Amino acid sequence: MGLKFQKWQALGNDYIVIEREELPLELNAERVRRICAAHTGVGSDGVLLLSDSDERGFVARLRIFNPDGSEAELSGNGAREAILYLRRHGWTDSDTFSIQTAAGEIRARRLAHLAVASPPLFTLIGVALYLLHAPANSDYLLWALIWLGVLVAIALGRADVPAARPRAIAPWLVELHGLTALALLLFLLPHIANHVTGIWSAATHVRVMKALRRIYRNPVVEPLLVAVVLFQIGSGVVLLWRRTTRPSDLFGTLQTAAAAYLAVFLSSHLTAVFVLGRAVMKVDTDFAFASGAPAGLLLDSWNVRLVLHYFLAVCCLFVHVGAGARAVMLPYYPVATANRTAWSVVGVGALAAAAAIVGLAGFHLAPAA
Ligand code: HEM
Repeated sequence: MGLKFQKWQALGNDYIVIEREELPLELNAERVRRICAAHTGVGSDGVLLLSDSDERGFVARLRIFNPDGSEAELSGNGAREAILYLRRHGWTDSDTFSIQTAAGEIRARRLAHLAVASPPLFTLIGVALYLLHAPANSDYLLWALIWLGVLVAIALGRADVPAARPRAIAPWLVELHGLTALALLLFLLPHIANHVTGIWSAATHVRVMKALRRIYRNPVVEPLLVAVVLFQIGSGVVLLWRRTTRPSDLFGTLQTAAAAYLAVFLSSHLTAVFVLGRAVMKVDTDFAFASGAPAGLLLDSWNVRLVLHYFLAVCCLFVHVGAGARAVMLPYYPVATANRTAWSVVGVGALAAAAAIVGLAGFHLAPAA
């Protein structure tokens, strides 16, 4: 079967240029690898696939594939070759024109992840401004300014801005992130269970917390725990940045969206517990601290943000773990079994989150003393 292509180079970076209309078969990772292979294929630094754009204002849509078959956000040399090719092959007569690339989609995907993480981001800003003795309600103003800045950046941004070629995700980083997540769960599962006990009574929560503190506040365990959390945030952000350069399915999107939330939540949570609670206010970071006593979560205009902040944190933890467990199971179990496991974990998380937030909001099942 014949494949019509041209080979172009810019500054020594050579690409195979293919028009989608001319393709006898869909391009997939395996076919890209075979085309780019040095000895058995054409041999190149990647494939530039050109097709009609589905959006107004663009002459063409450009997809760039790396020799390993993965899709790249954009390559400066690849884009220059594609633009010259389009001009020379009569796709346009214009000297200035735009092409649609994955860079625009990636920016949109990252923006959506930022939006998911907005509840803990708002809390983090509130805590930071409180620590800086900013005037009351300045967090609302800063919040509006931040999103205004984001909107201006989107309006000024172009979908054809050359961006860096994404680097591959190192398998060792994924494995280490998974292993440290397992270690972290040794603290997190009892921690969440402790908050679930708050639905019975605040006193029950405090009793369980005191028992757990004997372990996690141990002078060796606590610094280790904090170090693991910091590693988890850092490695999570690196993985998230790279994952969002690729198209994703439902579970993949749930996993990265939950990761974005948890990275900001953990930063905010640790700042609140260690800096605000322990170092500055010098209070016991117990149930009263978490539930915004004496006003409570619902009757204070600052505290009310914590309802969504905590509820979604517990949900996201279980979503992230459920989607991760599914990915680990997929090579060994049928897809249906892996999906059922993931949804069961998510279901347990939603119930735990609801129970914890009801208790924190001051509603308890234990008969009043
Ligand atoms: C219902 C939601 C939650 C509430 C109300 C809550 C509240 C608290 C409180 C009060 C502390 C201080 C504990 C102490 O002083 O003994 C704490 C510590 C901590 N929480 Fe949470 N938390 C919640 C969910 C989460 C989630 C979802 C995560 C992680 C994904 C998390 C991670 C941590 C970590 C790492 C610490 C530090 C432990 C230490 O003191 O060394 N929490 N949390």
